[in-house]
Amino acid sequence: MSFIGKESVEKSKFTFDAFDNLFTVPMKRLLITGCNGLLGSELIERFSERFIILGLDFESPLGKRWKCQFVEQDLTNFEGLKSSFAEFAPELVINAAAFTDVDGCERDRKRAWEVNVKGVENIASICSEVGCKLVHISTDYVFDGRAGPYSEEDPPSPCNYYGMTKLEGERVLGRFPLDYVIVRTSALYGLPRGGKKGFFGFLLEGLSRGEVVYGFIDQFTTPTWVGDLVKGIMEAVGERGIFHISGGKFLSRFDFAQKVAQVFGYDPNLVKPEETASVRFVANRPPKGGLRVDKARRVLGYTPHSITEALETIKKERDEGER
Ligand SMILES: NC(=O)c1ccc[n+]([C@@H]2O[C@H](COP(=O)([O-])OP(=O)(O)OC[C@H]3O[C@@H](n4cnc5c(N)ncnc54)[C@H](OP(=O)(O)O)[C@@H]3O)[C@@H](O)[C@H]2O)c1
Repeated sequence: MSFIGKESVEKSKFTFDAFDNLFTVPMKRLLITGCNGLLGSELIERFSERFIILGLDFESPLGKRWKCQFVEQDLTNFEGLKSSFAEFAPELVINAAAFTDVDGCERDRKRAWEVNVKGVENIASICSEVGCKLVHISTDYVFDGRAGPYSEEDPPSPCNYYGMTKLEGERVLGRFPLDYVIVRTSALYGLPRGGKKGFFGFLLEGLSRGEVVYGFIDQFTTPTWVGDLVKGIMEAVGERGIFHISGGKFLSRFDFAQKVAQVFGYDPNLVKPEETASVRFVANRPPKGGLRVDKARRVLGYTPHSITEALETIKKERDEGER
């Protein structure tokens, strides 16, 4: 089975018009998995006025302002998942849950497979059974990172176990009669509403304390503001196939960290250049990853913000105490 490179010719049956009149069109029911995570928590924040939402994750939400119903549920528990679906009856599911610790996946391969492959299979099987649209989130780590940024037509070939499980997670979707779209993204940044810091949170924290932080000069990617990703997901929801949704700029992690320091008013000299080989990671890292967004621009009209614009928005929200 291969859907790589297939242009989205067949439209999804799922329709959602962002300009629907709230008073005349009933709100659709949206289930978001991984709702405590960076993406999941942003989805809830941005979609809560347009959808009735059920958030699903391991534990009760960590954030302060939750605008959804919530269920504690492990994706790998098929029967539990099935009853959560039956009770809520979603029309749309966004699977933002994953085992995202790249080194952790290498160490605990069994768990990585359980969550990133079996968990996706569980969701796909239930969505297929109840006729529910599925948006599945994947990653540029499905590519080996020798020749990025990558388009949807490029053949995937992961260089670590996280990437392998995420690729297999994409592939299991094709085994079900299912209306689905895969949204791949890369190097996600933003202030998490769910409370988990992620690389960006740690970077900001270090810089704000005047600590030295390290940025890899030999790891290139297309950093993606979570606000752009949410918008791209909304634009892709009525499509099928694969869409790359990321930032439009290809740069090293060192250059990105310097940009963060500049926009947030911290000393850019705190960011020190580092080579990947000097750190003993458990898993391989793609040196030239990242995604091309030409298809999303063409088909969806997707337009990512510049890194400076995105960082300024994050800073403004932080300074105004929105997070
Ligand atoms: N962050 C990035 O740079 C990046 C880049 C490319 C693609 N992506 C993809 O984007 C998606 C969202 O990423 P993210 O950064 O928002 O991830 P995240 O912050 O790690 O959030 C994922 C959430 O899913 C939960 N989860 C994990 N296993 C679960 C299970 N079995 N059942 C229920 N919940 C489970 C996690 O809980 P625990 O934290 O307790 O495990 C976490 O709250 C993922 O598919 C990821 O692969 C992310």
